[in-house]
Amino acid sequence: MIEFQQLQKSYAVGDRQVVALHPLDLTIESGEVFGIVGHSGAGKSTLIRLINRLEEPSGGRLLIDGDDVTALDRDGLRVLRRRIGMIFQHFNLLSSRTVAGNVAFPLQLAGTAHERIDARVAELLERVGLSDHAGKYPAQLSGGQKQRVGIARALATGPRFLLCDEATSALDPQTTASVLQLLAQINRELGLTIVLITHEMEVIRRVCDRVGVLDGGRLVETGPVTQVFLHPRHPTTRRFVSEDEYGENGLHRDFDAVAGRILRLTFLGADTYQPLLGRIARETGVDYNILSGRIDRIKDTPYGQLTVALVGGDVAQAQARFAAAGVAVEELRA
Ligand SMILES: Nc1ncnc2c1ncn2[C@@H]1O[C@H](COP(=O)(O)OP(=O)(O)OP(=O)(O)O)[C@@H](O)[C@H]1O
Ligand SMILES: [Mg+2]
Repeated sequence: MIEFQQLQKSYAVGDRQVVALHPLDLTIESGEVFGIVGHSGAGKSTLIRLINRLEEPSGGRLLIDGDDVTALDRDGLRVLRRRIGMIFQHFNLLSSRTVAGNVAFPLQLAGTAHERIDARVAELLERVGLSDHAGKYPAQLSGGQKQRVGIARALATGPRFLLCDEATSALDPQTTASVLQLLAQINRELGLTIVLITHEMEVIRRVCDRVGVLDGGRLVETGPVTQVFLHPRHPTTRRFVSEDEYGENGLHRDFDAVAGRILRLTFLGADTYQPLLGRIARETGVDYNILSGRIDRIKDTPYGQLTVALVGGDVAQAQARFAAAGVAVEELRA
């Protein structure tokens, strides 16, 4: 478990103090994938780098499994960093070492016995699917393969936590998906707690259990991804969600052109597969006009979100029937 207690960070720039993180309280549970989303400059890297003390906090406390990390000395820090692996946007591999040499590096630093290193490296490369590339140099690898080396290296010392700073931001969508899949597998099979930061809501939706939204150095919204993604409250969260849904420019809905009461219906889990819309429309005599819709997944949970205009019949009754069936109903226009 990682606990931020009024943790804060300012940087000295000339004779001014720039606040990167305002005092922040947050608990990340063991075994979860926790995502932090925010725009450039929101304080994401600062937040994640405070966890392994690549940045020194300006105030507050950070507890990891109950230990006060803010109080550690140099030896304590060295031990801590073996418990926390980290991967980076630009991979940070050593170009003069082979794939195997990069993965072996933290083991050599930790003083692992020479005979044990080879077996451990082979096991790690197998886990990330790079067994056939052990002798290659980073320059001979694709971006996705480089990040897999980064992941194997981060796992080398058997950490319980994995920090990911924009780990997929330099990758194309397909490669991003496969790296996220690997992270999810590591979380599942090794039980690692993963903290990842990103500026893309889609990354959060694919792998995270819970999410925090960072805006101007403040955590403006936190919760399960199913909740935050489907029912965003803060304007910044809403913007991130609509970027994932409709692309960067958002959708310009023109409701003036359609008649009726406009509802947004959100189905979660098994409800996604129920023919509710047709049934309720028929039983209440309303006509429906689908204005937009999406069926997708949040991690492993299917969801559907439909914007519909309901016309004629007993519209109020239809709305109540949706709510009674466990569908989240948001009235966009009465
Ligand atoms: N070493 C530093 N010295 C001074 N200011 C800094 C330093 N590092 C970060 N900052 C400032 O702190 C704020 C937060 O920066 P941070 O790098 O944490 O943001 P970020 O969310 O990771 O952004 P990005 O998405 O661009 O990586 C920014 O205003 C940034 O300019
Ligand atoms: Mg950053």
